[in-house]
Amino acid sequence: MDSLFKAFTVFENEDGSFKSEIISKSIDDLPPGDVLVRVDFSSLNYKDALSATGNKGVTKKYPHTPGIDAVGTVEDTSHSSFKIGDQVIVSGYDMGQNTAGGFGEYIRVPREWVALMPEGLTKKESIILGTAGMTAGLSLRELQKKNGIEGKLAIVTGATGGVGCLAVKLLSQLGADVTAVTGKVDSEDFLKSIGAVEVINREQLAENFHQPLASGKWDIGVDVVGGEMLAGLMTCLQLGGSVACCGLVGGSTIETTIFPYILRGNSLIGIDSGNIPISEKEEIWMLFANEWKIELNDLSRTITLNELDHEIESILKGGQVGRVIVSLGEK
Ligand SMILES: NC(=O)c1ccc[n+]([C@@H]2O[C@H](COP(=O)([O-])OP(=O)(O)OC[C@H]3O[C@@H](n4cnc5c(N)ncnc54)[C@H](OP(=O)(O)O)[C@@H]3O)[C@@H](O)[C@H]2O)c1
Repeated sequence: MDSLFKAFTVFENEDGSFKSEIISKSIDDLPPGDVLVRVDFSSLNYKDALSATGNKGVTKKYPHTPGIDAVGTVEDTSHSSFKIGDQVIVSGYDMGQNTAGGFGEYIRVPREWVALMPEGLTKKESIILGTAGMTAGLSLRELQKKNGIEGKLAIVTGATGGVGCLAVKLLSQLGADVTAVTGKVDSEDFLKSIGAVEVINREQLAENFHQPLASGKWDIGVDVVGGEMLAGLMTCLQLGGSVACCGLVGGSTIETTIFPYILRGNSLIGIDSGNIPISEKEEIWMLFANEWKIELNDLSRTITLNELDHEIESILKGGQVGRVIVSLGEK
């Protein structure tokens, strides 16, 4: 094993600005941990872009290598649950936040963060899912428990983004009629091709919003936007309807009234995919490898570490469509 490897690393300048560089790091620079993984693929998530641009709510100390997702091969381990050569998925926890992440060719992490890749998922499929798929999957599992999915009228905000497009595709495959909400006027064909029956833009959705209650339209929803969109969406649910909320690209504050909750029995379900026990993540990976098997290749494109800066700029502006996969060796 070569002890030097390439890593996209973010530095804080003396004036408080940030810059990134692809540098050589040593395996010895990695934090202690039970499992050393040679990373084949990472992916770009909104949180990675925050980490890469100096958001101290995500990453406190720099220099730092972001990347909250990694799929790769175990190269060394001190723990009996794994052996050299195992293919694994690592997503969330502190990886890529304050622990060196998947934008480097190697990671070293605690065993509790590592899931064996289930039979039925390839490395490429696992990384296309990544944190976005885990989040969409957890959202759907909660909605399934509370409301069911088949035959339901569903709505997904931020529909072309990572979590959004996976939620649209999976909801559609599980039999829901999906309304996709997007800010991208030219994305209708894409969203319909992945299963949306209706595509509306953000302004059209906002026309439905009437405080404290609007006419009830949707049974279930997945919201990655937060802010006014989530508050408005909560006024538009059918009796007993639920929204799984997981993101804040449009704002972290919601102003709402109690009426959707006490007059219609609506539920706002919070989703955290980062810190749940690994056994729960393994259950979701198994679902994606079996009952929830979906075609994923139409949802992604693959880049290299050199192209990350440009893609980070785009995701921060809400400009990405689908999942951006970062190849660190494999194609
Ligand atoms: N809770 C968790 O465990 C968890 C896990 C993963 C992600 N997240 C969060 O979920 C959110 C989405 O993450 P992601 O990785 O899927 O990001 P992403 O790929 O950038 O997707 C976000 C999408 O939201 C829409 N959007 C962007 N800015 C917007 C704005 N100002 N107002 C309304 N819509 C906007 C855009 O889609 P359209 O153009 O189609 O509208 C954009 O593509 C982030 O806040 C992220 O931190 C949370």
